Amino acid sequence: MKILAFETSCDDTSVSIVQGGRKVLSSCTASQISEHTLYGGVVPEIASRRHCESIKKVCEETFKKAYIDLKDIDAVAATYTPGLIGSLLVGLNFAKGICLSKNLPLVPVHHLRGHVASLYISNEGLSPPFLCMIVSGGHTHIVDVRDYTEMAVIAKTRDDAAGETFDKIAKHLGLPYPGGIYIDKIASKGNPYAYKNIPRPEIENNKYDFSFSGIKTFVINIINDAKNKGQKINTEDMAASVRFAVIDYMVSKFIMAAKKLRYQKLAICGGVSANILFRDTMNKECEKLGFKFFMPKLEFCGDNAAMIGSQGYYEYIEGNTSSLDINAFASKDIAITIEEHPVFHDSLPAISWERPQK
Ligand code: KG4
Ligand code: ZN
Repeated sequence: MKILAFETSCDDTSVSIVQGGRKVLSSCTASQISEHTLYGGVVPEIASRRHCESIKKVCEETFKKAYIDLKDIDAVAATYTPGLIGSLLVGLNFAKGICLSKNLPLVPVHHLRGHVASLYISNEGLSPPFLCMIVSGGHTHIVDVRDYTEMAVIAKTRDDAAGETFDKIAKHLGLPYPGGIYIDKIASKGNPYAYKNIPRPEIENNKYDFSFSGIKTFVINIINDAKNKGQKINTEDMAASVRFAVIDYMVSKFIMAAKKLRYQKLAICGGVSANILFRDTMNKECEKLGFKFFMPKLEFCGDNAAMIGSQGYYEYIEGNTSSLDINAFASKDIAITIEEHPVFHDSLPAISWERPQK
């Protein structure tokens, strides 16, 4: 079964053709980063316009690369939530147009579920259940992936996401957008213990939850203080210290949650899963504990349509297709409930908060 997939939730116009949920026949992305860099972040109106301008060309290129024709496609998947509404609508409506003209089923896909599926196209042997940490520009979640379309959120950030924290600190350090990538790059040249007191906040009623706003404010205050006093911040040392604090904070909570839920199969995904220290630390910790560890190939960490095509396949075989009047939503939880999912699905079991102990 071949799925044509669209991902336009933020600033990447991405189109892919995926076979059987696992085999990426082609994947093409038009990045808008150079334009948004001028403004230090994504400008939603510009993002939406650029998607409109490039989606047809990117789609044609995707078919060319896969050496197949539209008549070979069995279903069309598109990200419908969460994201910038003006951006989501471009990909979703383009997908609807193809469905209408070719009488194909439409599969709406949750962006974060797509990130989870980036693990399937990267790791042939991986199948649920596993415990997954999704870390992107807008989300930091620990998710119990019970099955391909059945997930429960175990913990999440109470305020900023990890990627956002990196990006905002990077901006104050004078690094380009998206800052997470640049912090990671220069961190390897710095001393991770140079700034020792970066906080790792504990949350009162869910010790697995995260809070990043305190980390962000703490670091930005140091930077501003130094500026006011005419002192220079060592950018490499600060990048290394921030990277170490954020990764150490995330990994320790993730491992703690895995032990509590008795999971020995762990995975990370989302844009921040490209972070060298995150990948390294998780690898080492899991090896030490005898856990299996999975991560996406670097090309599938950031936003891409291949992951939407993969998740689209699993949603399709569960019957999660939609009529063409489905709307895009700026936010929606990843965890499926009968009320939340666009398709009413009788057979879904209720989600309990924690996995029963063995
Ligand atoms: O998943 P993604 O591409 O888009 C969203 O769904 O948000 O994630 C983008 C985020 C940005 O905050 C970016 O700075 C961060 O991922 N990121 C990184 C790295 N590469 C991308 N953060 C830390 N280290 C990296 N190597
Ligand atoms: Zn994403």
